[in-house]
Amino acid sequence: MSEHIKVDLDGGVLTVVFDRTDKKNAITQAMYTALAEATERAKVDDAVRVVLFRSEGDSFSAGNDIADFIAIGQTTGDMVEMGVFRFLKALADLDKPAVAAVRGRAVGIGLTLLLHCDMVVVAEDALLSAPFINLALAPEAASTLLLPAVIGHQRAFEIFALGEAIDGKTALAWGIANRAVPADQVDATARQLADKLAQRAPNSIRKTKALMRDAEALWNLMQREAHVFGSQMRSPEAMEAFMAFSQKRVPDFSKAG
Ligand code: COA
Repeated sequence: MSEHIKVDLDGGVLTVVFDRTDKKNAITQAMYTALAEATERAKVDDAVRVVLFRSEGDSFSAGNDIADFIAIGQTTGDMVEMGVFRFLKALADLDKPAVAAVRGRAVGIGLTLLLHCDMVVVAEDALLSAPFINLALAPEAASTLLLPAVIGHQRAFEIFALGEAIDGKTALAWGIANRAVPADQVDATARQLADKLAQRAPNSIRKTKALMRDAEALWNLMQREAHVFGSQMRSPEAMEAFMAFSQKRVPDFSKAG
């Protein structure tokens, strides 16, 4: 369990809340384990009809905790054994509807998680980014397939390679989100959608979602991405990027090669 992930079941909606506001909801290994447990529970618990991801504070999530990246970069274990991949497998396997309520920053997995949600509500002024290459890493969560599938190769490549954020209105226009609303309406709008989904015929909605995506192919790709991610995470260029973040400076890749 993690004090930074809150889980609540109400009216068939399992709400999973990022609650580490002082670190912009950056996700630690303990938080991934809690996210994995909640997502695995959602699949098997008949009382759960819908999963709703939302956040406390001014950010949806700043992505993976970078201090964790530094610690894991010094280990030799298989990336796929880490909590993050348990969570990603649970997401790939989840055949019940998932909804996300996104205010503020959604960085890294904060964005790629949305590609596994069936309905996404963003604040008009939310900022979504996937700066994996700024950190000398590689994309995860099957986003190398899902992001270009949703928004096209060139836009996806720019998001990965330049790491610049798109706002909520752009996310809506590009098909990442179903609704873009003022920030103070995000949580209520997402909850209304989750409540509607919770009232639909549960087996029909599960079978429809299962037909719309290939869970096994997604997990296979996630594992391939994990190997690239893992080798990059232990690379000198990634360590330079992580240290630059910790020291609040721009990374210097001029000597990388
Ligand atoms: N990992 C660890 N700590 C993080 C973090 C992360 N991913 N993102 C933010 N934090 C911490 C900051 O270090 C800071 O801690 P401090 O108060 O002890 O110095 C605190 O959260 C607040 O962040 P700050 O950068 O001051 O807020 P901001 O509003 O100026 O910027 C972000 C917000 C999200 C744009 C910025 O924090 C950021 O770029 N974070 C890194 C995102 C990232 O690259 N994630 C990995 C993707 S793979």
